[in-house]
Amino acid sequence: MRQSGLVADIVGVIGGTGMGVLVDEGAARDIRTPFGAAIVTIGDLGGRPVAFLPRHGADHTIPPHRINARANLWALASLGVRAVVSTAAVGSLSRALPPGKFALADQLVDRTFGRADTYFDAGLVRHLPFAEPFCPTLRSIAIEALPDAAPRATVAVIQGPRFSTAAESRILRDSGADLVNMTLCPEVALAAEIGMGTVTICVVTDTDSGTSADDPDAVTAELVFRRLDEARPRLVAAIGRIVEAIPTDYAPRPLIDDEAVAALRALPVVP
Ligand code: ADE
Repeated sequence: MRQSGLVADIVGVIGGTGMGVLVDEGAARDIRTPFGAAIVTIGDLGGRPVAFLPRHGADHTIPPHRINARANLWALASLGVRAVVSTAAVGSLSRALPPGKFALADQLVDRTFGRADTYFDAGLVRHLPFAEPFCPTLRSIAIEALPDAAPRATVAVIQGPRFSTAAESRILRDSGADLVNMTLCPEVALAAEIGMGTVTICVVTDTDSGTSADDPDAVTAELVFRRLDEARPRLVAAIGRIVEAIPTDYAPRPLIDDEAVAALRALPVVP
C-alpha cells in the first residue's frame, strides 16, 4: 500500500451493472495491487469522500467471471476504506420481491467456480468465519436509511455469464434462495478477508427464467440494463443515504486477526 495515500473517512462504493460512473468529477486513479490493476475514482457523495469502483469497468467490458475481485478489494483497502457499499443487479426467485424492488442482501449461496476467491492461498493460511457475510452494523444503517427496501434476502451467486435454465432457477428457489446474481462471490468474502465490512443494495431487474411461458419480466440482458437505467436515480439516492449515515468511526468486525490483515495489505504490488 505504498503508492496510494490513505484518505480519511473514505467509503468504498462498488457499482454493479448499469451504474456507470457515480462520481463524475472525481479523478480516476489506476491503482496497482499485488493482483493487478484496479481503476478507482475518488469523489464526494453524501458529504463524504468515496472511492468508486465500477466492477464491470467504466464501459462495462468485464464479464462477471473475469472481474479481478482481489485487485478491486485490495485497491479499496489501500485507500483506507473500511466500509463498502455495493450495488448488484439481481433476478428474483420470489413473488415477494418483484422487479423494481430494492433488497438488502443478508445471505449468500456461492454457486461460482474457478474464480480467485481468497487472499489466503499463498503461504498465509486463515479461515474466514462467514456465517454472516454482510456487516450487521452496515446492514442496520441501510435498513434504517432505506425503509422501502426488503430488509433481508438470500442471494444465490451463479457463475454466468449465461443466465439460468428453468430447472436451475427452480432448484435455486427450492433450496431457499430469494434472488440470483453473478458477482457477489467472491467479492463480499474478499472484503471481509482484508478487513472491510460490506452492505449490498440488490436491485431486482427480472424474474430470472420467468414465472410463466410468456412472462414479460423473464430475464434478458436488455431487460436488466433497462430496469437498471430506470432505477438509477433511486439507486444513487439510496447509496448517498447509506454513505451519509455511516459513522466516521465505523469499525468492521474483526473476522480475521490484525496480523494477517496487515500482512495482506503489505504484499508487494505488481509493477
Ligand atoms: N442479474 C440480474 N438478473 C439476473 C439473473 N436473472 N440471473 C443472474 N444474474 C442476474
